[in-house]
Amino acid sequence: MTSLTILGIESSCDDTAAAVLRGHAGDAAVMSSIVMGQTDLHANFGGVVPEIAARAHAEKLDTCVAQALDHAQVSLDDIDAIAVTAGPGLIGGVVSGVMCAKGIALARGLPLYGINHLAGHALTPRLTDGVPFPYLMLLVSGGHCQFLIVSGPHDFTRLGGTIDDAPGEAFDKVARLISLPQPGGPATEARAKAGDPKRFKLPRPLLDRAGCDMSFSGLKTAVLRQRDSLLVDSTLTAQDQADLAAGFQAAVVDVLSEKTRRALAIYAPMTNTPSICVAGGVAANMAIRGALEELASEFGATFIAPPLALCTDNAAMIAYAAMEQMATREPDGMDLSARPRWPLDQSAPAMLGSGKKGAKA
Ligand code: KG4
Ligand code: ZN
Repeated sequence: MTSLTILGIESSCDDTAAAVLRGHAGDAAVMSSIVMGQTDLHANFGGVVPEIAARAHAEKLDTCVAQALDHAQVSLDDIDAIAVTAGPGLIGGVVSGVMCAKGIALARGLPLYGINHLAGHALTPRLTDGVPFPYLMLLVSGGHCQFLIVSGPHDFTRLGGTIDDAPGEAFDKVARLISLPQPGGPATEARAKAGDPKRFKLPRPLLDRAGCDMSFSGLKTAVLRQRDSLLVDSTLTAQDQADLAAGFQAAVVDVLSEKTRRALAIYAPMTNTPSICVAGGVAANMAIRGALEELASEFGATFIAPPLALCTDNAAMIAYAAMEQMATREPDGMDLSARPRWPLDQSAPAMLGSGKKGAKA
């Protein structure tokens, strides 16, 4: 197979990213992957502010692309195609990326591929570990939470997902409630180590409902109520804080475990070599990872977690998704549009609401 060099661009949330990949589907090397975060810009607002994000993307994209080319030691003359996230995400950011990609494609006469951000995450285990289709993917981040059976570069079946907050979003909100710093996931996990997960009775939402859908917003409200009953002079003791962190994390682990068990029960009979893969920042949580690993071995499945830098938002996954898809699709034209919503599995019912990091897909 011919080796191609692809420039990927990602700007759907609060990371401006560009990457250069060389190779072909099933065997590609990440030549460079630059991610420019915006955490500082949004720190005072309790979430990502779409207008600030869009402006920052527009300002940083040129430099980000230049750095990606520079680190890969290539120039635009070496690039064979441009891949860009065309949705789902915060529309201003997606538009910035798509405009940048169109500009380069038009100026250099290069083919342009608009990529679904979730397809980028979902196909990453093939880039990092060459996982064969079909595999089960759990996307768990600040903006996403869904189970997908990935059967091909364009073939995704969504088994279920969150109907409200994503788990990372819930970790961030709970951290704020119990006075831990942002990002809330790592801070809550660290504090939970000193806590008793059984002290507070917190709910396990939607476990009584069949299927793989999840909900995390009621859990966050339950933590708020517990916290209010514990406050003395507006403060929590260190032990109360640790016990709330541990109780919350245990509830998330229980919900994710039970729903993963159900997803595995549907998926595992489909193949002799089952694999369960995770992507997203929440996959860094050792309690969640441990529970998933145990379930995988119970079902005789291989557990795969790509390195964190490729699990969280990045542009290498966007370039790689283009490599996977280009054999079976045409490039996009200059009429490629940015889409705030773009479900991977068009046949699955739409997810409700809008999260801290943008519209749910
Ligand atoms: O994939 P990601 O970097 O970004 C987007 O969602 O766009 O995920 C970030 C999320 C944050 O909500 C963060 O709190 C959460 O992942 N996170 C964790 C941990 N590390 C990061 N959540 C739980 N435990 C962790 N150790
Ligand atoms: Zn993402």
